[in-house]
Amino acid sequence: MHSFRYTQGELFAENVSLQSLAEKHGTPLYVYSKATVTDHFTRLDAALSPLDHLICYAVKANSNLSILSTIAKLGGGFDIVSAGELYRVIKAGGDPRKCTFAGVGKTRDEIVYALEQGVYCINAESEAELRYINQVAGEIGKKAPVAVRVNPNVDAKTHAKITTGKSENKFGIEFENILEVYGRVAAEMPNLEIRGLQMHIGSQLTSVDPFVEAVKKVTPLVREVKEKHGIQFFSIGGGIGINYKQSLDSGDEAWWEENSEVHPLTVQAYAEAVVPHLAPLGLRILCEPGRFMVGNAGVLLTKVLYEKRGAAKTFKIVDAGMNDLIRPTLYEGWHLITPVKQPNTDEVEKVDVVGPICETGDFLAQNREIPLVKEGDYLAVLSAGAYGFTMASNYNTRPMPAEILVDGDKATVVRERQTLDDVLKGEHIA
Ligand code: LLP
Repeated sequence: MHSFRYTQGELFAENVSLQSLAEKHGTPLYVYSKATVTDHFTRLDAALSPLDHLICYAVKANSNLSILSTIAKLGGGFDIVSAGELYRVIKAGGDPRKCTFAGVGKTRDEIVYALEQGVYCINAESEAELRYINQVAGEIGKKAPVAVRVNPNVDAKTHAKITTGKSENKFGIEFENILEVYGRVAAEMPNLEIRGLQMHIGSQLTSVDPFVEAVKKVTPLVREVKEKHGIQFFSIGGGIGINYKQSLDSGDEAWWEENSEVHPLTVQAYAEAVVPHLAPLGLRILCEPGRFMVGNAGVLLTKVLYEKRGAAKTFKIVDAGMNDLIRPTLYEGWHLITPVKQPNTDEVEKVDVVGPICETGDFLAQNREIPLVKEGDYLAVLSAGAYGFTMASNYNTRPMPAEILVDGDKATVVRERQTLDDVLKGEHIA
C-alpha cells in the first residue's frame, strides 16, 4: 500500500497536504509516510512468519534516522554496507547485534568498528576479504562472525546496473567454490566463526521466478554448509520489486485484491514461493529488503519554474534535478509524476520534465503525458522513497533537499535543507 492520495483535488501524505508542506518548507522536498513503511514491514514480517526469520532492512535505500528508528522500533534488523551506515543505525536506536555488514570493499577501520559494535555477521565477498577479516580480528583479539556471499549465477531479469547474481558481476564467490572456501576458513582462519551463508541476486525483481531459481539452486549447498560447519542462518538477500506504475488509487487493500495481476510481485506471492524451500532447512532466514520497505513510502516534491516550448519538445523546467533523484537518468527509472493540486481539466500534454542541472541527462521524465501544470505549480514525483535522497549529491553546488516524515496529522522535518555554508563546510582556500 501507500498513503499518498488525492482529497478534494489535492494530494495528501496520510492526513497532511503536500501543497502546505511545499509552501512551508520549500522545494525540492522529500516527504515520507510512516504508515506506509510500517505497513510494508508488518506485511513482510507476517508473510515470513512460518520461518524463524529476521528482516534486515537495507539501509542504503533510505538511511534517514527517522526511517531507521521506525524500523528499529518494529523489531527490524539492518543490512549495512559501511561504517557510516552502522553509525546511523546506532544513532537511530538500532541494535548492532541485528546488523549484517555487506559489500565487496570493507576497510580495516570498518571491520574494526563493526567487530567492536558486535554486529551479527560480516558477509564476505571474496577469499582475500575473509583472510583480511581474520587478520584484523586476530589483531584486536576478537572472533569475527562471518558468512560468505554466494554468487549463484542466476539471471534476476532486472536492469543490468542492478543485477548482482551473475558470474560476470563483482559480487560474491562462485557457487562451485563455496564449499572449498568454507573448508579453508575452518582450517586456516582461526579468528573467524562461520555463522551463515548469504546471497542477493539483484534489485527491483518483478517476478518470483528468479528468486525461486536461486533458492532452489542454493538450498542444497546451504544444507551441506550447515552439516559441515553448523551455521545459524541463510540470508536470501533483498530485491523485492515495487510497482512504479501504480495509480494513485492503488493504495488500499481492496484495490490490491482486485488488481493483484497488476502488481509485479506481492510479498504474499514471494513468501508462498520461497518459504516451502526454506522452512525444511531448519535455519534462521534473513531477508534484506530495501526498496520494498520505503520505495512507495516517499515522494519528491518539486516546483515548476519555467515552461519552454521548443521546436521538438515542450519542457517543464522544475527545481529538482538529477542530483536530487538520479534514478531516471541512471537506470531509465520511471516515476509517476502528478500535480500536487489537480488542475480543473482532464487535458494532458506531452512534456519532458527536466531539472536545472547543466546536463542533457538531467530529467525526471521524458515524452510523458502529464496533466496541464503552469509555472509555480508543484509536482510530486512518486515512489521516490528508495534510492532517492540516499543517492542525491551536491552537484552544481546545490544544497541537499530537506526531508519530512508524516505520521497521521503530524509532519516533522527529519532532515533540514542544507544551507550554502553546509555545502562548503570543511573547504579551504590554499
Ligand atoms: N542486500 C544487498 C547485499 C544489496 O546489495 C541490496 C541492494 C539489497 C540487499 C537491497 O535491495 P532492494 O531490496 O532494495 O532491491 N540504486 C538502485 C538499486 C541498487 C541496489 C543495490 N543493492 C536503484 O535505484 O534502483
